Amino acid sequence: MEKFMFMFWAMFFIIMLWFCHVDGITHLDSECSQARNSTGNTVYRSNLRSLLTSLATNAPLQDGFFNASVGNGSDRVYGLVWCRADASPDTCSKCLNDFISIPLTDCPDTKELVIWSSTCNLRFSNESFFGELWNKSSSSTYGNSGLDDPAVFTRGFSMMETLVRSVSNGPLMFATNVLDVGDNRERYGLGQCSRDLSKLDCQNCLEELLTSYREYVLNRTGWEMLGVSCGMWYDNFRFYDANLSRPNPPNTSGGGERWYNKGDMILAFVGILVLYWISDFNYV
Ligand SMILES: *[C@@H]1O[C@H](CO)[C@@H](O)[C@H](O)[C@H]1NC(C)=O
Ligand SMILES: *[C@@H]1O[C@H](CO)[C@@H](O)[C@H](O)[C@H]1NC(C)=O
Ligand SMILES: *[C@@H]1O[C@H](CO)[C@@H](O)[C@H](O)[C@H]1NC(C)=O
Ligand SMILES: *[C@@H]1O[C@H](CO)[C@@H](O)[C@H](O)[C@H]1NC(C)=O
Ligand SMILES: *[C@@H]1O[C@H](CO)[C@@H](O)[C@H](O)[C@H]1NC(C)=O
Ligand SMILES: *[C@@H]1O[C@H](CO)[C@@H](O)[C@H](O)[C@H]1NC(C)=O
Ligand SMILES: *[C@@H]1O[C@H](CO)[C@@H](O)[C@H](O)[C@H]1NC(C)=O
Repeated sequence: MEKFMFMFWAMFFIIMLWFCHVDGITHLDSECSQARNSTGNTVYRSNLRSLLTSLATNAPLQDGFFNASVGNGSDRVYGLVWCRADASPDTCSKCLNDFISIPLTDCPDTKELVIWSSTCNLRFSNESFFGELWNKSSSSTYGNSGLDDPAVFTRGFSMMETLVRSVSNGPLMFATNVLDVGDNRERYGLGQCSRDLSKLDCQNCLEELLTSYREYVLNRTGWEMLGVSCGMWYDNFRFYDANLSRPNPPNTSGGGERWYNKGDMILAFVGILVLYWISDFNYV
């Protein structure tokens, strides 16, 4: 039943995405707008504002991950953001700034929110959730990618299944892999978890994505599976910097400003971005 609801919501989001696409940002609802007027709880609002600003400022300087909390008592708010490992600080920063403006302008009184995309993720709540896996919603897309040789797809999918363990063992909880499929062709994979997760939760998160969406992406040449706590990306071109594939990047102790990609690389087929307003959908 739980599983069914999960799939139901996953499908629901995909359908809603179809209808509600505005400037690359997808709003699932209009309920939030009523908050715009109300005076609300000004202490909570100001805590939320400083939390979100701090997350968007710090994450690009901390290898694309940051968590923090602001406030006391019932006005305390906890937040966490992460960017995809190959996003440059600029790309990460831009993505996060777009995200934080959504609750700030539309839903300043929202207690809990998750937003995810191919490039970055935002989650905040009035209850502490650090280290906890979010498994209530996720999404998957194959964009405009064509159909692959089914045998290649199968091998590529196995590669992604193998990648799960490398991701959870990686110091920054991401890993890449390349599959030689002959004729000078290759398939590329990237997997990543939110760095607050335990190894086990990271594995569970990624495996859940692979299980939930295998049928959906079947035989596709490129696809991605996105959750709030983890994500997997797969394609027939090297969509990340070749340097990313080193399992243990050097200089990890050299401060928080080392990045893997100078260019603003963005996956061509992705523009998916989902808002999930918990307060409005009362997920079971
Ligand atoms: C917002 O404010 C305007 C003007 O003050 C008012 O007409 C409108 O009814 C308010 N909307 C809500 C949802 O309170
Ligand atoms: C971030 O989360 C970790 C748990 O994953 C926690 O130990 C740490 O205190 C949090 N950082 C902040 C600034 O709240
Ligand atoms: C929380 O409480 C501490 C100690 O009472 C205070 O110093 C701090 O300013 C408060 N933080 C906020 C955001 O109200
Ligand atoms: C968080 O907000 C919800 C909804 O307003 C409320 O029911 C819950 O008690 C709050 N939790 C905390 C820890 O304040
Ligand atoms: C999500 O995780 C919780 C606890 O970790 C588990 O009880 C629940 O069944 C999971 N939900 C889904 C949809 O997998
Ligand atoms: C995928 O390929 C297999 C093997 O050729 C085929 O049986 C199946 O119908 C294909 N599925 C889709 C969705 O293309
Ligand atoms: C990859 O790393 C090497 C050695 O650190 C560096 O010389 C090269 O410029 C890097 N490539 C890219 C595309 O950043």
